[in-house]
Amino acid sequence: MSHESKVWFITGVSRGLGKVLAETLLAEGATVIGTTRGGSAGIARGQGRLTLLALEMTDPRAVREAVEAAFGLGRVDVIVNNAGYGLLSSVEEASEEQVAHLFDVNFHGPRRVIQAALPHLRAQRSGHIVNITSIAGVAPAAGSGYYAAAKMAVEGMSQSLAREVAPLGIHVTLVEPGAFRTDFLSDRSIRRGGTSLEDYAATAGAAAQRLTAMAGRQPGDPARAAAAIIEAVRSRQPPLHLVLGSDAYQRTREVLEAFSAELEAWKQVGLGTDFAAPGPTPPSGPRA
Ligand SMILES: NC(=O)c1ccc[n+]([C@@H]2O[C@H](COP(=O)([O-])OP(=O)(O)OC[C@H]3O[C@@H](n4cnc5c(N)ncnc54)[C@H](OP(=O)(O)O)[C@@H]3O)[C@@H](O)[C@H]2O)c1
Repeated sequence: MSHESKVWFITGVSRGLGKVLAETLLAEGATVIGTTRGGSAGIARGQGRLTLLALEMTDPRAVREAVEAAFGLGRVDVIVNNAGYGLLSSVEEASEEQVAHLFDVNFHGPRRVIQAALPHLRAQRSGHIVNITSIAGVAPAAGSGYYAAAKMAVEGMSQSLAREVAPLGIHVTLVEPGAFRTDFLSDRSIRRGGTSLEDYAATAGAAAQRLTAMAGRQPGDPARAAAAIIEAVRSRQPPLHLVLGSDAYQRTREVLEAFSAELEAWKQVGLGTDFAAPGPTPPSGPRA
């Protein structure tokens, strides 16, 4: 199958990265099934074929129906779990509702899409699941604890899933972007929990201020992110992790090096927790 004839299912194509990815593919002549909450979007169709479906990620039935509708149109080769949003809050100050909604959209939404798509992908014995997580899912910063937790939940699930479906011909890729210039940090997207306690002013509070001030000046170019995702999907050996942006690269390196150093610094303590090796077996019974 040629690259252009692959069918992509992408959640959240109303704006941002999902929209740019859809438009890039359509310009090349690919077939895109995109979802938006309202089932419509102003998307340039280029040479390709676009079908829009309505999907609110928190509605399990709507997810099942959208995925069934997509496979009902024929095969789907690539599933991109893109829809999502951020929550700026200290861990202590977020409300029960804010945390539950964030997990509903950012973790359970992709999980529902994956569970609905897997029977079809298994039957096809091919497919590629691309989950857009975040650098926060690799290297969490202060002020984004629940966003990081939801993205890490996707990371953990996906890394298990990758091992389960590799023998079935299905790839899994985690896309871990740094800061990209979309609506993500705008008031249309980002939600705010609490960052008002004085004790968190220098950590969660400062991080929230820094991110708010970054809106519109993020270093990452969504068009280049879309091109990188397409390149990874088309590669002969698609990566499990695709870290996007110089900021994300730097933070990932720092986390890996700090983890590695700590692993070695505490190695003897950690290794010392195995059961003691059994000693020589004492002789049993009377000797002749
Ligand atoms: N941009 C970044 O810096 C960055 C960095 C790391 C990770 N990411 C991740 O990249 C993905 C795309 O974000 P973006 O930067 O393109 O942000 P964006 O411009 O805010 O777009 C977010 C998309 O998600 C959709 N969405 C949000 N909540 C939804 C829900 N409950 N049900 C259905 N659709 C929903 C939005 O639809 P509506 O238009 O209807 O709201 C929109 O299409 C997200 O998963 C985000 O976490 C972004």
